[in-house]
Amino acid sequence: MGRHERVAALAGEDLTGLEVADLGCGPGRTVRALLAAGPARVHALDRSSDLDDDLLVDARVRSRLADLDEGVPLAGTSLDVAVSLNVVEHLASPVDHLVGCHRVLRPGGRLVLAHSDWDTALFTSSDDALTRELVDRFTAAAHGPSPRSDGFMGRKLLALADAAGAAGAPFALRDVDVWADPHRRFDDGSVAWKVATAVLAAAADDPALAARAAGWVEDLRALADAGQFLFAVTDVAVVLERV
Ligand SMILES: C[S@@+](CC[C@H](N)C(=O)[O-])C[C@H]1O[C@@H](n2cnc3c(N)ncnc32)[C@H](O)[C@@H]1O
Repeated sequence: MGRHERVAALAGEDLTGLEVADLGCGPGRTVRALLAAGPARVHALDRSSDLDDDLLVDARVRSRLADLDEGVPLAGTSLDVAVSLNVVEHLASPVDHLVGCHRVLRPGGRLVLAHSDWDTALFTSSDDALTRELVDRFTAAAHGPSPRSDGFMGRKLLALADAAGAAGAPFALRDVDVWADPHRRFDDGSVAWKVATAVLAAAADDPALAARAAGWVEDLRALADAGQFLFAVTDVAVVLERV
C-alpha cells in the first residue's frame, strides 16, 4: 500500500454514499484511492488542472480549479470527509486552511491531514556527508513550484490542529499515523528521482555544490542499478473529527 492508499484508508474503509473532498488533489492519485471505498462524490480541488483523464470522465468526481489561499469553495457542512495531503506547506496560512476545512465539514465529519516531513528524507549514497548537506539545503529551501515550503511540516500537524481550535475551528484528534514507504527504483520519473531532482534544484545557486550534487545523483542511479539503493521519507497523518 502506498501513500495515497494509506491516506484513503484513514479517510474510511467504507465511504459508501458519502461526500468527500481531496483538497490540493494534484493528478488525483488520492482521489482514485478514495473512489475505491464507494463515495457518492469526490470533489477534487486544486489551483492547477493536472487531474488524470480517467478521473475527469468519472461521474463521481467533481473537478474544480480553486485557490485554497482564498478558502475552501464548498458549501458549509456539506462534506463528510476531507483529505489534504502534502498541501499545507504551500499555503499562506495552514491554520486558515484548517479553519476552511472545519467550515465545510459536517459536525462529526473527518479530516485526514497528511504531510511528508522532508527533513527525514533518506537516500542511500556513497557520500553520507554530502547527502546530509544536500538534504539540509533542500529542507531549508522552497521546493516545487510554490515559493513556500516547510521541510518540517509532518511533525507540526498536531500543533496545527491545536492552532485551528484556538482560531475557533475545534477538531477532536482520532488517530495519528506515521510511515515511510521503501522506494528502490531510481528511473526517471520515479518517486526517488523526483525528490533527488528537487534536491539538485535546491543546490543550483551554489555552482560548486551543484556540480557535486549532479555527481551525487549519478551515484544514486548507479547504486539503484546495483540493487543497493533505498529512498524513504517519513509521512505523518492526523485524523481529525470536526467538533
Ligand atoms: C505536492 S502536491 C500534492 C498533490 C496531491 N495531494 C498528492 O499528494 O499527490 C501539492 C499540490 O497543492 C496544490 N496547491 C498548492 N498551493 C495551492 C493553492 N493555493 N490552492 C490550491 N492548490 C494548491 C498544487 O497545485 C499541487 O497540486
